[in-house]
Amino acid sequence: MRQVQLQPGADLSGFRQAVRTLVAAGIGPEEVAWSTAEPGLFGVEPVADKRSDAPPLRLPRAVATLVEEVVPHRDPERYALLYDVIWRVAQGQRELTEIASDPVVHRLELMRKSVRRDIHKMHAYVRFRQIETPPGEPERFAAWFEPDHFILEAATPFFVERFRAMRWTIVTPVGTADWDGSALRFGPPGLRAHVPAGDAFEAGWTGYYESTFNPARANPKLMQQHMAKKYWRNMPEALAIPNLVRSAGSRVERMLEEEPTVPTKRMPEGALAAMLDQAPASLAELNAIIKAAGPLVPGATQAVVGEGPERAGIVFVGEQPGDEEDLQGRPFIGPAGRLLDRAMGEAGIDRKDVYLTNAVKHFKFEQRGKRRIHAKPTAGEVSHYRWWLMRELELIEPKLVVALGGTAVLALTGKQVPITRARGPAKLLEDFQGYITVHPSYLLRLPDEDAKRTAYAGFVDDMRRVREIGAAAAPSRSRAA
Ligand code: URA
Repeated sequence: MRQVQLQPGADLSGFRQAVRTLVAAGIGPEEVAWSTAEPGLFGVEPVADKRSDAPPLRLPRAVATLVEEVVPHRDPERYALLYDVIWRVAQGQRELTEIASDPVVHRLELMRKSVRRDIHKMHAYVRFRQIETPPGEPERFAAWFEPDHFILEAATPFFVERFRAMRWTIVTPVGTADWDGSALRFGPPGLRAHVPAGDAFEAGWTGYYESTFNPARANPKLMQQHMAKKYWRNMPEALAIPNLVRSAGSRVERMLEEEPTVPTKRMPEGALAAMLDQAPASLAELNAIIKAAGPLVPGATQAVVGEGPERAGIVFVGEQPGDEEDLQGRPFIGPAGRLLDRAMGEAGIDRKDVYLTNAVKHFKFEQRGKRRIHAKPTAGEVSHYRWWLMRELELIEPKLVVALGGTAVLALTGKQVPITRARGPAKLLEDFQGYITVHPSYLLRLPDEDAKRTAYAGFVDDMRRVREIGAAAAPSRSRAA
């Protein structure tokens, strides 16, 4: 019997090294004992040095992904089960992970689901608190979270993307993640006592939660299913839950009698506001958060959120609302929007069937006399709003995402791309088919009529292709799953 001793937690690189060595030496799963405890069992021979020269093992992508996603699971048997599958794949059963009835594959799939759920919960329920820092030092934030599995490394890139401009630490019983504004470092486990219990902003956040809580949907059992009580303890707004649930019945009656209202409460400004948001369950919830967060650059009248069916097959992404959109609170209703409507109509696309949204949700402008002149959003502003755009797409799960112009492409891919070269079907995001075309305002800006006519005809051609691709496309990956 060979013993493989791995680091406690999710030791992905140790596991990969060991697998390489074992497969190269022809050692089957029944001859291996996996452990994360100290070695020393009688009759057990350790596996060769981790840094062995065994050749890399070529595994199908599906197996490699399964390994990455299951290694963070807490079950001590995970390494043995994964090695069982890898061994059989290496012996020639290349499609093994597609056989859902295989008992080992089945167990691993359940583990994968559980890890994914845990990561999702961490993304949704982490709440940062401001830490006191000496005057003149940058602000710092900390959060406490208790994951079910060893997901810290897998889950934290989300927070880096979301809160890149801030300095924060996430403390958990299985490790600590620290972001200093440029590098992410992982450290030893911490204690809940290392994180302050509350800060000055919590009252505001609890108030915001109360203002958006929908008593008609209050279902304590379901709420606990989604949010185990252990998470409630970390969440300032959770203090309000028992009261809200208790008063839900009478609040529903009152709500039915009242006119619908737009939440007017604003979350605290800037980075902190961004930090407080949620993984919303519906577009309505997402849009309430966008509206409450307020503009990044002051001046806009209101947030202009996306518009269209919740399950639209095609999503169009523009740049930012213009003057008319800002005043009326609806996307694509000004001159560029009217041109887009016309081109879609000529191509057989009904505006009512598609979802129209923008990379940036607030109008940015320069005031010249009485006129408000559109000002292009910076890459930093586009990245600030990216999280919202991604949540919109995750909720809608369209078949096709159409980028109208360079800012939309930047928002979707993080890259500046010359539109004339990239125009047409494109890989914008992993889970959805993509298409790049010009922004309709580009057509409006062309100086001479001939150029306008030609460019418009090309735009209508694009819309036709969009309609065809949208009609033919398979459902998005997440919708298919
Ligand atoms: N331009 C955009 O990109 N979006 C709008 O909503 C209006 C004009």
